[in-house]
Amino acid sequence: MTPISKNIGVLGAGQLGRMLAIAGYPLGQKFGFLGISDDEPSALLGHMHKQSDDVDIYKKLVDFADVITYESENTDVEIVRMIAKTTPVYPAEKSLFVSQHRGREKAMFDALNIPCAPYKVVDSVEALKVAVAEMGLPAVLKTTTEGYDGKGQFVLKSEDQIEQAWSEIGGRELILEGFVDFMRELSIVAVRNANDEHVYYPLVQNVHHEGILRYTIAPAREISEEVQKQAESYMKSLLDELDHVGVLTVELFETTGNQLVVNEMAPRVHNSGHWTIDGAMTSQFENHVRAITGLPLGDTAPRQPLAAMVNIIGETGPVEKVLTMPKAHLHLYDKAERKGRKLGHINVMAENEEELFEQLKALGDFLPK
Ligand SMILES: Nc1ncnc2c1ncn2[C@@H]1O[C@H](COP(=O)(O)OP(=O)(O)OP(=O)(O)O)[C@@H](O)[C@H]1O
Ligand SMILES: [Mg+2]
Repeated sequence: MTPISKNIGVLGAGQLGRMLAIAGYPLGQKFGFLGISDDEPSALLGHMHKQSDDVDIYKKLVDFADVITYESENTDVEIVRMIAKTTPVYPAEKSLFVSQHRGREKAMFDALNIPCAPYKVVDSVEALKVAVAEMGLPAVLKTTTEGYDGKGQFVLKSEDQIEQAWSEIGGRELILEGFVDFMRELSIVAVRNANDEHVYYPLVQNVHHEGILRYTIAPAREISEEVQKQAESYMKSLLDELDHVGVLTVELFETTGNQLVVNEMAPRVHNSGHWTIDGAMTSQFENHVRAITGLPLGDTAPRQPLAAMVNIIGETGPVEKVLTMPKAHLHLYDKAERKGRKLGHINVMAENEEELFEQLKALGDFLPK
């Protein structure tokens, strides 16, 4: 083993784990995954410890690992706490605890003076009515936990929708958020290691369709240095407050007047950072691996003026065509086709906007009509 080699245990075995391993092997790292089946995207990239194995699955992974990380903010906090007694888990418990609950996230944004939508946590239809009266409409009602790809959300436009909204997504704790009238959706990926080094990728623009991220433009067009610095200062506050080690991603709205309003955060590598695999000097995956194994962080600068990441959703589509495009890189996750499922992504590089849009046009089969 080289002095920097570590065994990395990942809770989860999806595409994020797969891309972490692909980035970590050149650094001499080894990987183990906690998964469900041998069909998962990470299964052939390291030791698979399956939940069905009739032994203490966590023990097997922990015995293997020098450090543990996770793929999802829905990872059980109790398990992380238990593992952390013997093996470091990064990002640590606090990052996980805060980011798995929208109310806790927003309370932290408020405490750090990071602008976010007004909000109210409610646990009954009566409380929801009071919150609507206080906050006004339109507003977005969301489950406080477990939402992804826009699931568990209801846009409330009039008071007579309250009962319907409660019956569709309620019966559990919800959060009512003021509707943000945004121009664009942006995100920023930041990384901190245990030596308190911080690095930031440029703000990117994200375009969603039916609640799912479809493509990202990196860097986002027409972002002033001031706005980038503002986003970085929010990230620094969050990284320091959480004592975060690893990648942290924040999704934001850009409102008229170029104001940033934070939407949510994820204590992990993020779909809107996949462009960095081909488009940045160091990918978000490599930087996460570096951060959790105590290595210096890599340069986050883009390798070219512009890049885009297009998600492959539901159907694999004409991927051979992508391989004939000189500035495109195909990334497939080895997943079976299913409606709404993220099966892979395509990164394209460009010298200017015109070239980028030509390439996005050529990838029309992968974009919503
Ligand atoms: N307060 C809001 N005002 C206006 N639009 C909103 C608001 N909250 C969410 N949205 C819209 O809904 C989308 C999904 O919301 P959010 O990111 O909170 O949910 P999610 O299910 O965690 O999504 P994902 O997993 O894709 O990040 C946002 O990208 C945005 O387009
Ligand atoms: Mg989101």
